[in-house]
Amino acid sequence: MAYETIIVDVEDHICLIKLNRPDALNALNQQLLGELMTALEEADANDSVRCIVLTGSEKAFAAGADIKEMSTMSFAEVNSVNLFADANVRIMQIRKPIIAAVSGYALGGGCEIAMACDFIIAADNAKFGQPEINLGVIAGMGGSQRLTLAVGKSKAMDMNLTGRFMDAEEADRSGLVSRVVPAKKLMEETMSAANKIAEKSLIAARTAKEAVNRSFEVPLTEGLLVERRLFHSLFATEDQNEGMEAFLEKREAQFRDR
Ligand code: CAA
Repeated sequence: MAYETIIVDVEDHICLIKLNRPDALNALNQQLLGELMTALEEADANDSVRCIVLTGSEKAFAAGADIKEMSTMSFAEVNSVNLFADANVRIMQIRKPIIAAVSGYALGGGCEIAMACDFIIAADNAKFGQPEINLGVIAGMGGSQRLTLAVGKSKAMDMNLTGRFMDAEEADRSGLVSRVVPAKKLMEETMSAANKIAEKSLIAARTAKEAVNRSFEVPLTEGLLVERRLFHSLFATEDQNEGMEAFLEKREAQFRDR
């Protein structure tokens, strides 16, 4: 499919999706969100893709929902299109691992899309925030929920109520991102992480993602039960056999996603 607001490139089992509205700091309008969800779903369905990387520009991952597009909408309109709900649900249904590579601003919907990915690698110039309060609204795509799960109540309240930004160092310290790298090395480091994931059994990678995500939905005893059952289920795969045999034979495993 031809896209106008994103650039999609599939190479060496990795699907790289770049948000591309440079004049608006990658503000998320409905077209961009629609194209992004379609690209993610296509990557999820494409057998040659084993990991997805989502990024923006050096200055902005995304500066939030498109304020111009939203500014004239009435309650009835946002309610009837269920603004942002569709994207939030669709991104959660992607089963392959998604890494967000964040440079510059990840604000409002930009921060929320990054948090909806499986983990965030941040450049040292990254800035995260939920500044919707400055516009007289609140976060609408997970910023009050996923940010709280990631950094705890105090920081989430601080950011949602004052609208202040969190820099990369604080985001790292608070557990919002998995690691911080020099801005110039962001894509090299992220692609290296994506390559590592792409070398694993895709069945195991999908299952690991499913198990971790379950922890947000169910109590611990239930989560541990789900994990144990998922763990058991992997013993039905050829990849489990290959992975363990390769270890014992002191060689690299050759996973075949079976
Ligand atoms: N929507 C639409 N356009 C945006 C935008 C947004 N969220 N963010 C930036 N832009 C546009 C600006 O209007 C500007 O366009 P023009 O050149 O045509 O005027 C261009 O991008 C460059 O932006 P700035 O000149 O403002 O750049 P800056 O470097 O001075 O400031 C910034 C950068 C601090 C990120 C500032 O642009 C900013 O505060 N942006 C808005 C951030 C925001 O409030 N995000 C939350 C949106 S609401 C939301 O996301 C709801 C939700 O939860 C789903």
